[in-house]
Amino acid sequence: MRSFAAVSVTFFLVFCLWTENLAFLADHPYHNVTVSSGIAGDVLVDDPFLRLKVFVYEIPRKYNKQRAECHPRCRTHMFAAEVLMHDFLLSSPVRTLNPEEADWFYAPVYTTCDLNEVDKPYMFNAPRVMRSAIKLIASSWPYWNRTEGADHFFIVPHDFGACFEFRESLAVWRGIIPLLQRATLVQTFGQQNHICFRNDSIIIPPYLADLQKIQAYKIPRNNVRNIFLYFRGQICDSVNDPSGYNYSRGVRRAVWENFKDNPLFNMSPESSSTYYQDMQRAIFCLCPLGWAPWSPRLVEAVIFGCIPVIIADDIVLPFSNAIPWKELAVFVAENHVHNLDVILTSIPVHEILWKQSLLANPSVKQALLFSQPAQPGDAFYQILNALARKLPHRNSVFLKPGEKILNWTAGREADLSDMVDILRR
Ligand SMILES: *[C@@H]1O[C@H](CO)[C@@H](O)[C@H](O)[C@H]1NC(C)=O
Ligand SMILES: *[C@@H]1O[C@H](CO)[C@@H](O)[C@H](O)[C@H]1NC(C)=O
Ligand SMILES: *[C@@H]1O[C@H](CO)[C@@H](O)[C@H](O)[C@H]1NC(C)=O
Ligand SMILES: *[C@@H]1O[C@H](CO)[C@@H](O)[C@H](O)[C@H]1NC(C)=O
Ligand SMILES: *[C@@H]1O[C@H](CO)[C@@H](O)[C@H](O)[C@H]1NC(C)=O
Repeated sequence: MRSFAAVSVTFFLVFCLWTENLAFLADHPYHNVTVSSGIAGDVLVDDPFLRLKVFVYEIPRKYNKQRAECHPRCRTHMFAAEVLMHDFLLSSPVRTLNPEEADWFYAPVYTTCDLNEVDKPYMFNAPRVMRSAIKLIASSWPYWNRTEGADHFFIVPHDFGACFEFRESLAVWRGIIPLLQRATLVQTFGQQNHICFRNDSIIIPPYLADLQKIQAYKIPRNNVRNIFLYFRGQICDSVNDPSGYNYSRGVRRAVWENFKDNPLFNMSPESSSTYYQDMQRAIFCLCPLGWAPWSPRLVEAVIFGCIPVIIADDIVLPFSNAIPWKELAVFVAENHVHNLDVILTSIPVHEILWKQSLLANPSVKQALLFSQPAQPGDAFYQILNALARKLPHRNSVFLKPGEKILNWTAGREADLSDMVDILRR
């Protein structure tokens, strides 16, 4: 550990000296960004198994298993939590077969699992699939109508959660579909004051496939971190964003234009066969927003001990009351991106070492992984903990006899049509 630290410090100092204007750097605060913390997703050390009971609705396979059979990639892509959480709950000790004793009801609907020829989810059908499933559980069991979903949770891991769209303007146009108004949403998307985010949602990490492969890429811990900042990924999306300014709200493009020739910035739009090794050789890993504020990079950076540089204003991070995101990451405001070199090179060495020591904590890494099989403290357990913390339900969850809050005919017109069966596509 000591030699690792020493090497890292030496390397860093060399780079700092290269940048010449240290005095100027010192005047620039980089932490002038407020970080929102989630309400629900706490990492707890206590045991969620004694604290809640979940009833898993058995609904036709066209809402779940059949979709994953048609598209095996749904078990490995970044939205796989909807499939894996279902598997996990089916055999979990929190599952109850008696709905009368359940604290939470869960309807397994794989809304992202309908892929086009390049393996991207067809989201136009997702609101209809969700609506169809809700209609079914509301008419077949008495529990939905009792609360109109307020003791139900849904996994909606797509870019903008239950807004079911990857382009922000369209996600905002739709909003969270009205039938989910009272349900608890378990989603990857988190951004304060955004129409697709409710502050009672449980924010989860994206799924990283190939954990075994990742383990295989681990290089010894006393590795030399001789890359200052690392980034591999899309800079713009010329197909969906020809203007070039909507994707990543222009952030990736601004970083690229300002720093592509800066020797401290190891960046490329091309993928790299040594991506995982490179992250372990880097001090900072850039995690800018894409279409949504989150991306799997954030989890990868933590796994590989690379300090995430998060550029996504008002992002709400997974399990953020317990993972010390504020301390272990660097947050840069979107409109300060042109100063990124100055901001990063002015971070004192002791702070870098402190962040690296937090990142080395195995329980932080564990909390961000949907391990196969599940492990104590991993993301599955964090979700259960977050659900348990919301108990007992407030009395207002239960409707008075005859009381109705949801409007079944509200929402975007196209979303009210019947779902398209995946086998008929
Ligand atoms: C930092 O935050 C303070 C308080 O929110 C604000 O007044 C100030 O203008 C900010 N500074 C910069 C450089 O954004
Ligand atoms: C629940 O309410 C809906 C809409 O009001 C109704 O169509 C449905 O039959 C009710 N379900 C049950 C099980 O009574
Ligand atoms: C870009 O974003 C703006 C503001 O959200 C929106 O009005 C516009 O339609 C978007 N353009 C494209 C091409 O998506
Ligand atoms: C969450 O949002 C609701 C309204 O949408 C608001 O009343 C409440 O104060 C918010 N809670 C927190 C902790 O921000
Ligand atoms: C339900 O929503 C529809 C469509 O927005 C609207 O026309 C109708 O008036 C609403 N019904 C109630 C009871 O609010």
